[in-house]
Amino acid sequence: MSEKPKKDGLWKRVSRVFKEKKETAHHKFSRIGKLRVHEFTDPVAAREILRQDANFGTPRFVKKGIGRFIGNALILDEGESWQNMHNLMTDIFSPKGVNNTIAPIITDETDKMIDRWLKDAKPLDLEHEMRGLTAKVVMRVVFSDSISEKQAHDIIEASTVTIESFRKPHKLTVAMRMLGIHKEYIPRMKKTYKQSAEIIDHILEDIIAERRKLKTQPDDILGRLLDATDVATGKPLTQKQIKDQLVMFIVAGHETTAVGLTFSLHELLQGKNKAEYDKVRTEVDNFTHGAHLPPGDYNRLPNVRDAFKEAMRLHPSAYEIARECEKDTVVGGVEIKKFDLVRISVIDMHRAPDLWKDAADYKPERFRKEPFPKAYLPFGTGPRVCLGMTMALTEGTLALAEIFNRVDFNVTERPTGEQLVFTMRPQGKLEATVTERKTKPATP
Ligand code: HEM
Repeated sequence: MSEKPKKDGLWKRVSRVFKEKKETAHHKFSRIGKLRVHEFTDPVAAREILRQDANFGTPRFVKKGIGRFIGNALILDEGESWQNMHNLMTDIFSPKGVNNTIAPIITDETDKMIDRWLKDAKPLDLEHEMRGLTAKVVMRVVFSDSISEKQAHDIIEASTVTIESFRKPHKLTVAMRMLGIHKEYIPRMKKTYKQSAEIIDHILEDIIAERRKLKTQPDDILGRLLDATDVATGKPLTQKQIKDQLVMFIVAGHETTAVGLTFSLHELLQGKNKAEYDKVRTEVDNFTHGAHLPPGDYNRLPNVRDAFKEAMRLHPSAYEIARECEKDTVVGGVEIKKFDLVRISVIDMHRAPDLWKDAADYKPERFRKEPFPKAYLPFGTGPRVCLGMTMALTEGTLALAEIFNRVDFNVTERPTGEQLVFTMRPQGKLEATVTERKTKPATP
């Protein structure tokens, strides 16, 4: 009688499931329980995945998790309804829309922030300041002047709580999420989620109610949503659909840019990057001659623009882009099956020594030869590329330019690293005192 093969013990079987891994230089394969996971840092494969919209969609656990806050808003939406919403907003975020309408808001809010800084000599938490700036800018883009200072302040506070609840989870929490067990089932989190969501909800209800009284809507995001039609029903958008889109624009439109600005300041204000700081200052001085910065195209200030872009290479706020495979396919010779999770590790790609010369160094001039190298994906690519990319690049460039145009910094505390929250943020504070510039070029 043939002997029955000996079964592996439980521990061996479990660890085999969790440990199965295959690796090449820019692709790793592993399993979390039954889930097959691919991690790509190969720029060609990553671009191919992001272009193959038909074969890859937003992972179900992302839709479920983030969908609790923003329903089916543009960033999670698909098909005709996504296309409709995308078309509705495209010209607001086009280079022309940004230069004509958004750039003046950016310079105005940056100047207001600097005026406030100069009234008070106390040390500033620069990440907090950048978050305040970008949130105010995006709220003016969304609501024009239909939002009060207090409402804007309360939304910023509440959305910060919401964003922080997405702190990079422990592996066990990832597994729980994949099983559909979400953080809000933990009582403490539920309270914070609920409270911040309610605050935002009430404020949005008030603003929308006021705006519905107007005969004609201002041409801003809220105005377009109020005038829009749902492609599925042929009726105006529901109150919930409008609120979901608003929350999405507010969060997507400020957190990432704030972090990009903070890391830019962090890099430029380090002694080792003094040459880059000098380049930025000289460019700004030659441009403004001591006057305030006029709004306009971010490409007019290539050194400042590249300083922002390089900070986002080393510290990409959207550090990973995730997709779920919807149809068996092959990318870069790798077989990807339906339901496989695909993670494009933007951070590892941006720092790979074989993809970038002097990968660890802060060298903004690398973008002069090639403005968007293949291995640079801070805004994603393909049909779901960031809708606010031109706005973000304009905001990063104009805000940095005006800050260095007007003030000197004395850094009193520095971040000690990075932390993964919803975005990749500095770990620890970037704190500085700010004074009006001592040496300013004379106005011609
Ligand atoms: C430095 C700042 C920013 C970064 C790094 C960033 C990054 C990204 C990335 C990586 C994606 C693609 C996600 C994916 O493919 O799954 C994305 C999508 C998106 N972003 Fe941004 N973003 C920034 C600023 C903004 C701003 C200022 C806005 C608008 C006010 C915005 C609105 C959006 C929207 C609506 C989408 C969804 C596009 C779609 O699915 O069609 N983003 N962003």
